[in-house]
Amino acid sequence: MNLFKAYQTAFESALEDFNQVQTPENLYLPMKYLLDLGGKRIRPFLTLMAAEAYGIGVKEAMGAAMAVEVFHNFTLMHDDIMDKAFLRRGETTVHEKWDVNTAILSGDAMLIRAYQSLEDYPQPIFKSLTRLLSKTAIEVCEGQQYDMDFETSLGGSQEEYLEMIRLKTAVLVGCALQMGAILGNASKEDQQSIYDFGIQLGLAFQLQDDYLDTFGDQKTFGKKIGGDIIENKKTILYHLAIKHGNEIQSQTLQTLLSFKNRSSEEEKIKKVTDLFEVTMAKDTTRDLIQHHSDLAATELEKLTITAEQKKRLLSLKDWLMQRAS
Ligand code: IPE
Ligand code: IPE
Ligand code: MG
Ligand code: MG
Ligand code: MG
Repeated sequence: MNLFKAYQTAFESALEDFNQVQTPENLYLPMKYLLDLGGKRIRPFLTLMAAEAYGIGVKEAMGAAMAVEVFHNFTLMHDDIMDKAFLRRGETTVHEKWDVNTAILSGDAMLIRAYQSLEDYPQPIFKSLTRLLSKTAIEVCEGQQYDMDFETSLGGSQEEYLEMIRLKTAVLVGCALQMGAILGNASKEDQQSIYDFGIQLGLAFQLQDDYLDTFGDQKTFGKKIGGDIIENKKTILYHLAIKHGNEIQSQTLQTLLSFKNRSSEEEKIKKVTDLFEVTMAKDTTRDLIQHHSDLAATELEKLTITAEQKKRLLSLKDWLMQRAS
């Protein structure tokens, strides 16, 4: 994406330094492997863009941008173990390519290295950044636990689902943006508003991830289509299907998403996908994504940055809302 060209080049170059492989190779190679698979790099771009909006250059903001992207990739490495996923960014996941123990330890080391990326910031910036990252990191763990708890239950209410995705996904998007604002010494009000923009953007983003997990194209999405269905995830599609479906449809869906049978996975994906369509869960999910995307735009208005900077953040949001990967 053109908007990010400058960030992209700078980030990839910083990543090359980060990825200098050390020994033991089985600790460092999996990190390099996953980070080199790319992905959209949304979180570091958000940090760089927010920092720039408050007068801080790419070079100065790179440590924080690296911290959020390395942290994100650590969560993916462990998430793929928890979700039994074999495909990430179109390639084999780390625990499948190496093994589970390697993915656990390499992920742990990534978490530590994410913090190390912040070491060169002076006080009081360092303290603000690490406090924010730690608060975010513990919330991501809480969100992941709720996500797993819902696999073996009826998934709670739609409000509880939204709180779960706020924790597992949206807070890191908010954190990425707020870090940029912290670097630029933004006011407390601006820090809060840019964080809230990130929360709404992150909610829309995770709703869309749920949508694409069933209705995306595996080639571009890079993850197994139907992966959430196989794992009995109670995604937004499930909640809206229960809300809008009739008694029989709801019962059928709950039964389908309560057991696992490796030999009939494709059949289960087909049945659940059909239910998501006939109950209008597919369409109403799109509406909800739009709703949170609009709320994000409202939060953005509150910022004291220039109209030009707001426009850049808005284009980024709109680009994300159309993503297929
Ligand atoms: C995947 O995040 C995990 C979610 C929070 C949905 P991304 O969709 O940002 O993954 P990459 O980094 O672009 O691969
Ligand atoms: C993303 O949840 C949240 C974290 C990785 C912390 P998902 O499990 O939906 O992410 P994907 O779909 O595997 O990327
Ligand atoms: Mg998960
Ligand atoms: Mg997953
Ligand atoms: Mg997902």
